[in-house]
Amino acid sequence: IGSPIQDVDDELQHLLQTLPEEQGWVSGSSLYLYQGSWYAPHILKHAIYCQRHFQASDSDVIVATSPKCGTTWLKALTFSTLYRNQFTRDESPLLTFNPHRLAPSFEYGADLNNPCPDRVYKPRLFGTHIPYASLPASIKDSDCKIVYMCRNPMDMFTSFWHFRDMLRDESKELLSLDEAFDKFCHGIYTHGPCFEHVLGYWKASRENPNKILFLKYEDLKEDISCQLKHLAMFLGVPFTEDEEKGGVVEEIANICSFEKLKELEVNKNGSHNGIPYKVFFRKGKVGDWSNCVTPSMVERLEKLIQEKLDNSGLTF
Ligand code: A3P
Repeated sequence: IGSPIQDVDDELQHLLQTLPEEQGWVSGSSLYLYQGSWYAPHILKHAIYCQRHFQASDSDVIVATSPKCGTTWLKALTFSTLYRNQFTRDESPLLTFNPHRLAPSFEYGADLNNPCPDRVYKPRLFGTHIPYASLPASIKDSDCKIVYMCRNPMDMFTSFWHFRDMLRDESKELLSLDEAFDKFCHGIYTHGPCFEHVLGYWKASRENPNKILFLKYEDLKEDISCQLKHLAMFLGVPFTEDEEKGGVVEEIANICSFEKLKELEVNKNGSHNGIPYKVFFRKGKVGDWSNCVTPSMVERLEKLIQEKLDNSGLTF
C-alpha cells in the first residue's frame, strides 16, 4: 500500500499530460497550469497533497504570499511575534534556523501535522504560495488565521528575475530579461499570475478581515513597529503596555530585519533541499526595479496593474 504522497506522485504523471504546459524561465524546466496558477511538477505534487490531506485547526496561522513578496521576512516576524514568550531574545530560533524551516510551506513539503521539525510550537505556523481559491477547504472553513503580504509587481519581477538566476544550475540558461518580463506579464512563472493571486486574498480579506490580514511589503518597510503591533493584535497576542515600554516591538523588528538575518551564519552558509538560504536575502529594498526594468517595461506593467486592479480598491 502506497503512502498518500506516493499516491499523488503516481497520479501526477498522468495529470501533467492533461494540463496546459509552458517553458519555465530556466532552460529545460516546464510549468503546468493547475486551477489557474502555474506550478513546477514537484511543487504541484505537494500542493495537491496539501489540498487533499491538510486538516486546519482553529488555532493555526498561515503566512500566505506570492513568491518574492517578502515571505521570508513575514515568516520571521510572525514566528517571533507568536512565540515571543517561549524563548529569550538571545535564544531566538531565528538565530540558528532560517525562517523557512520555522514556518515551512505546504507546497515545499511541510509536514502537515507538525510543521516545525525541531520543536513543537503551538499554535502551528505554516507558509504557502497557493492562491486563495485553491487553499484546502479546512483552511477556509476553520477559524485559522491567514496573514497575507503583497509587494509592488515591479519589485517582485525584479526580485524573481535575480532569484531564478541565483538558483539556476550553471549548465542551464535563464531567459533574457525581455522574455522573462513577457512571461511575467502573462503570469507564467511559479505561482503566477500575481494579480489573480493578490486579488483573491484581497477580496477575501475585505469579506473577512478577522480571518485574513492583508499587508504590503512597502508599508512594513515604512513603519515596521506600527505594522508589527497590527500583526500582533490580529493574531490575538497584542503587545502589552509593558512589552511596548520594554522595547519588545523594536527587538522583534530588529532580529527580523534584512541586515540582521542576512548576516547570520545559517543564512549565509546554510541550505535546505539544495537551496542555499542566501538566495532569500538579496537587497531587501523598495524600488530596486529601477536598476532592472526599462521604461517601456514599466509602461507595460503599469498599464497592466491599472487594468487588473481596476475597481478593486487595491493600489500599489
Ligand atoms: P529583493 O530580491 O528585492 O532583495 P521571498 O522571501 O518572498 O522569497 O522574498 C524575497 C525578497 O525579500 C528579496 O527581495 C529579499 O531580499 C527580501 N527580504 C528577505 N528578507 C527580508 C527582510 N528581513 N526584510 C526585508 N526584505 C527582505
